Amino acid sequence: MSRAASLYHPVTIGTVRIPGNIFLAPMAGYTDVAFRTVAVREGADCTYTELVSAEGVLRNSKNTHSLLRRSPEEIYWGVQIFTSSPYAAGKAVERIQSLTTPTLFDLNCGCPVPKVVQHGGGAALLKDPSLIYLIVKTMKESTSIPITVKIRSGWDAESINYRETAEAAVLGGASLVCLHPRTRTQGYGGKSNWRHISDLKSSLSVPVFGSGDLFTPQDVARMLEITRCDGVMIARGAVGNPFIFTQVKAFLQGTPPPNVFVENVSVEKRLAVALTQLDLAIEAMGESLACREMRKHFCSYVKGIEGSAGFRNRIVHAETREQYYRLVAEFTRSSSS
Ligand SMILES: Cc1cc2nc3c(=O)[nH]c(=O)nc-3n(C[C@H](O)[C@H](O)[C@H](O)COP(=O)(O)O)c2cc1C
Repeated sequence: MSRAASLYHPVTIGTVRIPGNIFLAPMAGYTDVAFRTVAVREGADCTYTELVSAEGVLRNSKNTHSLLRRSPEEIYWGVQIFTSSPYAAGKAVERIQSLTTPTLFDLNCGCPVPKVVQHGGGAALLKDPSLIYLIVKTMKESTSIPITVKIRSGWDAESINYRETAEAAVLGGASLVCLHPRTRTQGYGGKSNWRHISDLKSSLSVPVFGSGDLFTPQDVARMLEITRCDGVMIARGAVGNPFIFTQVKAFLQGTPPPNVFVENVSVEKRLAVALTQLDLAIEAMGESLACREMRKHFCSYVKGIEGSAGFRNRIVHAETREQYYRLVAEFTRSSSS
């Protein structure tokens, strides 16, 4: 077995054993059931919903329920909640279990968006590790499904406290911690500080996953090798490029198939997968919403393809399935001629 091959392995999260350690990260506005299904088909070992409001679950909000849709192809599937209330977290976990059967529950402690942090949720929890402890503990007492927690390095550069927040989560009963090593203040800018992942890995008793700046198979191999983390969650690197999962696994196993890098995935294949995602989205949310949601995905699928600017300009106005199929056919014809 090559050195890289030993980096790809199963991971045990509490009572659950997942056959591989390359996950799709939760992404609000992106990781809906259609995108997750495509990611699984392309090799993601586990997927997460985007963040779901615990209070929304309790209010029976229609939007929240649509976020809880699971594809039969998602064998290993996490539901991520956000809240600042231990009570709401516990009740939401109970309610979700009466509706569906996640493999994992995750607590979001990283979302930087004002409407989430203003209510004390997401990254605001980083300011209060004892609240993270209480929320995780209440979730743990409300379910036998393993709990994972996704954190950032800290609120800002002056308050780096990932060790403290991760320890609070584990004390509360978390079975895995994923660290995105940026602060809330950094948002998604700058470079993620992988040293924080190495440091956390060396200090925590449960599996540690890393997230941040994983755009190529080499990035993933480097993170696994340098930080010794137990697995990764790929986020922006998978948007318009779900192929990255197969590529990463092939790269780590030392058996690259012919099209191992995204620039080598043909235009035809990229657009065929994008159309499959469109059809899955239509099935899940209806044609009108799916066509709006898929515009950004199509723009990402053709990123870097020569002559795609005109296609992107047209696709952002597409409103029907028929329009998508027509624009794709035209673009494929023009790029192969
Ligand atoms: C558009 C977008 C939405 C995101 N939504 C979530 C979310 O709902 N829950 C979460 O834990 N992280 C969320 N994240 C953070 C990602 O999961 C990931 O940790 C972060 O983007 C770093 O990885 P990357 O640099 O490889 O993109 C989001 C990131 C982006 C770009």
